[in-house]
Amino acid sequence: MTNLKTTIDEFIEEACKSIIEEAAGRPVLCALSGGVDSAVCAMLTHKAIGDKLTCLFVDTGLMRKNEGDQVTALFRDTYNINLIRVDAEERFLAKLKGITDPEQKRMIIGEEFIRVFEETAKSLGEIGCLVQGTIYPDIMESGEDGHKQVKAHHNVGGMPTDIEFEAVIEPLKMLFKEEVRECGRKLGLSEDFSERQPFPGPGLAVRCLGEVTKPKLDILREADAIYREELEKAGLHKEIQQYFAVLPGIRSVGVRNDERCYEEAVILRAITTTDFVTAGSARLPYELLELVAARITAEVPGINRVAFDVTPKPPGTVEWE
Ligand code: XMP
Repeated sequence: MTNLKTTIDEFIEEACKSIIEEAAGRPVLCALSGGVDSAVCAMLTHKAIGDKLTCLFVDTGLMRKNEGDQVTALFRDTYNINLIRVDAEERFLAKLKGITDPEQKRMIIGEEFIRVFEETAKSLGEIGCLVQGTIYPDIMESGEDGHKQVKAHHNVGGMPTDIEFEAVIEPLKMLFKEEVRECGRKLGLSEDFSERQPFPGPGLAVRCLGEVTKPKLDILREADAIYREELEKAGLHKEIQQYFAVLPGIRSVGVRNDERCYEEAVILRAITTTDFVTAGSARLPYELLELVAARITAEVPGINRVAFDVTPKPPGTVEWE
């Protein structure tokens, strides 16, 4: 926090007062992505103005296994926050058809997100304010003053500039990531969300190398879920900042039920880092890797090989695309 004397409790109290003041009785819209920042932003805004807040969750079809259902269940059913879920999987996959270049994928996803957001926001009628989970590092990165400026990050969730909101509220703009997590914990946000590892805005599209298709995403989702489950069961998730599976689009020969098979490979990534600018490959126990490989090849149809990426950043990036 830029003012070190303020505690998180005081921050929450002050932030609620500011949100009430800035919203001035108008309805407020929040784009919920499933990440920590927007989740905490929604919780805080809900504490301040209750039902005047509506959250919008766009299911791009590029989320991890069960992620959309978890977000909906938690925010709508547990926290009683007004939540609109837009199932936009078909739209996103149609736009991504035939696209193999990573940057083009990012642009298409970012643009489509904005279109879906605009259409849904317009269909809601009068929405005075937008609240967004911009945090201090975002402001530093984009060099903005952080007031009325809409977050101009490369991220998906970057908001449309051609919807005229009367006000843009950014209650977390003076917080660093750890403070956002602490704020989430204080607000009662489930640990599953407050301690969440980063997930790229373009989602699994940048972990499914080359063309993105539903069958590819489905097998990647299954493999990734097994990997995460085992790593978390082993209690390693608190020491490893990011871990996920990648579908590189390589097929190789294997043997299944005494017969030759020719199936996809999956690559596992696990990194330790303090800032994500540089990172090391996490030294996972070999037994864990063997267990994950055995489960993935047995349980996910179409995968017969599992490899582990030991490349640090640099020269590798965290993501493969
Ligand atoms: P890289 O791959 O650049 O990743 O070493 C560093 C961190 O940034 C995340 N990342 C993204 N986040 N949109 C995002 O919101 C993106 O397009 C994107 N690309 C990478 C990555 O997951 C890691 O935490």
